Amino acid sequence: MTQISEKPGYDVKDLGLAQKGRDRIEWAALEMPVLSLIRDRFEKEKPLAGQRVGACLHITTETANLLLTLKAGGADITACASNPLSTQDDVAAALVEAGIPTYAIKGEDNTTYYRHLDAVLNTKPNQTMDDGCDLVSRLHLERPELIANMIGGTEETTTGVIRLKAMEKDNALRFPIVAVNEADTKHMFDNRYGTGQSTLDGLLRATNVLLAGKNFVVGGYGWCGRGLATRARGMGAQVIVTEVDPIRALEAVMDGFRVMTMEEAAPVADIIITVTGNLNVVDRQLRKLKDGALIGNSGHFNDEINIAFLDELTESRRRVREFVEEFKLFDGRKIYLLADGRLLNLAAAEGHPAAVMDMSFANQALSAEWVAKNHGKLENKVYVVPREIDEAIASLKLKAMGISIDSLSAEQEKYISSWQSGT
Ligand SMILES: NC(=O)c1ccc[n+]([C@@H]2O[C@H](COP(=O)([O-])OP(=O)(O)OC[C@H]3O[C@@H](n4cnc5c(N)ncnc54)[C@H](O)[C@@H]3O)[C@@H](O)[C@H]2O)c1
Repeated sequence: MTQISEKPGYDVKDLGLAQKGRDRIEWAALEMPVLSLIRDRFEKEKPLAGQRVGACLHITTETANLLLTLKAGGADITACASNPLSTQDDVAAALVEAGIPTYAIKGEDNTTYYRHLDAVLNTKPNQTMDDGCDLVSRLHLERPELIANMIGGTEETTTGVIRLKAMEKDNALRFPIVAVNEADTKHMFDNRYGTGQSTLDGLLRATNVLLAGKNFVVGGYGWCGRGLATRARGMGAQVIVTEVDPIRALEAVMDGFRVMTMEEAAPVADIIITVTGNLNVVDRQLRKLKDGALIGNSGHFNDEINIAFLDELTESRRRVREFVEEFKLFDGRKIYLLADGRLLNLAAAEGHPAAVMDMSFANQALSAEWVAKNHGKLENKVYVVPREIDEAIASLKLKAMGISIDSLSAEQEKYISSWQSGT
């Protein structure tokens, strides 16, 4: 049952889950050595002292380690969920116990979701840390009086960065944001290896289906799609990719995947997973799905599958497993929608493994520090993560993995920066 505290400051499912949450947060920390080094430094230097951070992130064990790092750095943080289905209730409870006001309940409805965002905004943050741009968008549209407090923010995911760039283009963005997703040490690892593995994890936990021999359609061959397609192939699935970008489509072909339109893929698909960040990627093609097809999404929003249209084709709906809903169509076929079309990896599994979130959240922590340090010097733009931060994170990660790499000799540095010497 939902527990609403007498004292203001949190809305979580059950504070009794805190011990379980603490244990799992510690387990994740074992795979987050880079963030842990940052936390040690933050503890000593307190670079975020005086910062009031409003964080709208998936409330997972990895996020908890990020928030604890920011707190160690002196920040005053309030957190809410960036998706109604991604919260780990034990982690939310542990965060409250650790002194971080948290508003997040797995399965919360849309009204509660926005009430939780408002609770964070009510603390009058001066930095935002967003995943998908819902907090920043609400702050601009509904609470413009708070903009005067803001010195900047960070954004975690592709979809959020796309929305922020649209705001920048319309001259609507009223404070600077660092696009953490654009760091190489974020999207090349988190989106590719993280989403690739954890989406399969979500699919398997939700359904327990065998992947070997299945026709597995991946909608979108971006960073997430590449990871998902490669890993599904590794499990023995026959992977088909759909794309709208000719270069990405060509890349998928040469990586050895079959590429076709969704119209062609739908009738042969056993499983379809979308990861495009786009709307209605599976739309009228829903009419053509095979009996028994599974369909899910790991893109940011639950609008990649046209669920309203699927519903129009449907005689009756029933939940057959925790994250599987059966749609019995008027013609008798049964289609199975996973996790209500929401981020499958976070809804049905635990999201990305800590080892990749280590780098994503190292970028978040260092970007928050960068925003604080550069207060007053930044424009109302979307910034990329400074290259030196990106490279420092890669170097620390390699070091933590016990891997050494070569460095350029003076002779080599001269050679690659000169144009005179040739054959
Ligand atoms: N589940 C997670 O934990 C997680 C993690 C990271 C990113 N994301 C989200 O996943 C989505 C994809 O992120 P990304 O980094 O791979 O983005 P990306 O821009 O690298 O790739 C998206 C790809 O989808 C393609 N696409 C767009 N519309 C399409 C359509 N109608 N049909 C087929 N392909 C289409 C684009 O051409 C592009 O190649 C975003 O919404 C992002 O926010 C989710």
